Amino acid sequence: MSERLLSYQSPGRVNLIGDHTDYTGGLVLPMAIDRYTTIRGTRAPKTVRLRSQSEPEPVEFQLPISSPEKITPIWGRYIAGVAAEMQNNAHGFDGEISCTIPIGAGLSSSAALEVATALALGDTGTPVERAKLCQRAEFRSVGVPCGIMDQLAVTSGVRDHALLIDCHELTISPVQLPNDTKIIVQFIAERNLATSSYSKRVAQCGVAEKIVGPLRLASLPALTGITDKTVFQRARHVVSENQRVRDFAAMLRSDDLESAGRLMIESHNSLSQDFETSTPQMDAAVATAISQPGVFGARMTGGGFGGCIVILADANAKIDGWQVRAVNAASQLI
Ligand code: GLA
Repeated sequence: MSERLLSYQSPGRVNLIGDHTDYTGGLVLPMAIDRYTTIRGTRAPKTVRLRSQSEPEPVEFQLPISSPEKITPIWGRYIAGVAAEMQNNAHGFDGEISCTIPIGAGLSSSAALEVATALALGDTGTPVERAKLCQRAEFRSVGVPCGIMDQLAVTSGVRDHALLIDCHELTISPVQLPNDTKIIVQFIAERNLATSSYSKRVAQCGVAEKIVGPLRLASLPALTGITDKTVFQRARHVVSENQRVRDFAAMLRSDDLESAGRLMIESHNSLSQDFETSTPQMDAAVATAISQPGVFGARMTGGGFGGCIVILADANAKIDGWQVRAVNAASQLI
């Protein structure tokens, strides 16, 4: 077994448009961003031992592991979940984690941790296989029934491109980002998806699908068969959001940033009113952002209930927040 120092890095992601569509096999348009989780260390035979610069307690367990949901400290469950999904293909690792992705901000710090862990423990799958493995790990270890967007965005990022992802087919089409723009993320509030109403939203979409079939194939007129007002609104968001993702990708490709920005605002309003995953603070931040000169559009991004908003602006606009750039997928560094 080699004692060579190894280093693996996974980016976070921001979603430009297409939220709460992935778990019904819909369309999303995220990009991997220049904020990272990095794991450095050496291979170890059968022990996983990791310290995190942002956590007081390290995680340590023996391989193979069968009950990752029982590991403490709790952050270690993401690590253990990945190891459990890799079964006998995981090797041990002794190292340290550092992270420049804010935790609980809707920028996929969990997916980045899972994917960097999979690489460090020796995963050799394709980007799609790795994303699926990490998605299963998240559900198994922390119980979040998340879709595939976050994990796919960080295993498949392409520099200077957003990724048009069909979450049913699992196909990824990179869409070049226009040169003369910038993408800004504004942090609004910390949140935890596991304790939010995220799984309730997933369940409500499931109820809608029992009535009208797969939402990814449904049209707005077909939704009139849904009599429950809340379920109808959830379904209307998903169906209209899928169309906005298609249109947004076309607008980016034709450099029509005004129209792209309008679609972001419509997406935000749909998430706020129909899907109810925004908050008054996020609504206010979006309203402020879109009133500023040089801003094309803004919206809540990710799971919601807090987290961040994302802003598309002219390269010269003066906007508070973090400018993020689209980067390549998770990889081994040394
Ligand atoms: C979270 C989940 C994703 C996706 C978004 C909402 O980030 O992990 O799978 O559902 O929320 O678009």
